[in-house]
Amino acid sequence: MENSNHTICYFSDETVTLDDAAMTSLFEKSSTFNNENNIYGIFLHIAGKYLQILEGHKEVIDPLYARIREDDRHNNIYEVFNKRTEHLIFKEYNSKFSIVKSAGDLADINKYLESNRYDSRCDKLARLLTPFLMFSDI
Ligand SMILES: Cc1cc2nc3c(=O)[nH]c(=O)nc-3n(C[C@H](O)[C@H](O)[C@H](O)COP(=O)(O)O)c2cc1C
Repeated sequence: MENSNHTICYFSDETVTLDDAAMTSLFEKSSTFNNENNIYGIFLHIAGKYLQILEGHKEVIDPLYARIREDDRHNNIYEVFNKRTEHLIFKEYNSKFSIVKSAGDLADINKYLESNRYDSRCDKLARLLTPFLMFSDI
């Protein structure tokens, strides 16, 4: 369906340890592209894993996710959900795509999700993020 909103959430394993400059570059390129294309969500790198939530128009999200899946900086992609949605959770949280850079950022996101638990995706995401809250150094 044209212009329908879509949301994808996955975890993956890093295949290479990126140094600070390479990680900053990945984060900056991702936010620039995502913000220019009205893609909302979060991007987190923690304990050798990536977790990403992408929300936006299906015709933008699908080709981006296809590129991401091909990227050899990660593998073992585990898809938590990939579905049509009416409601863009993260657009309401932050009008820009969010890079999670600190334990405080993550705690804020978790609080937001917990306060919206009536939405089943928020509930699922809050539960998924809980183990990561124990890392104080992101
Ligand atoms: C874990 C991970 C997440 C990524 N997320 C995004 C993203 O949200 N947006 C983006 O533009 N690129 C993202 N990338 C980078 C893309 O995989 C790809 O390098 C970028 O879209 C440029 O593609 P191109 O070289 O085919 O032009 C991500 C890469 C990795 C490893």
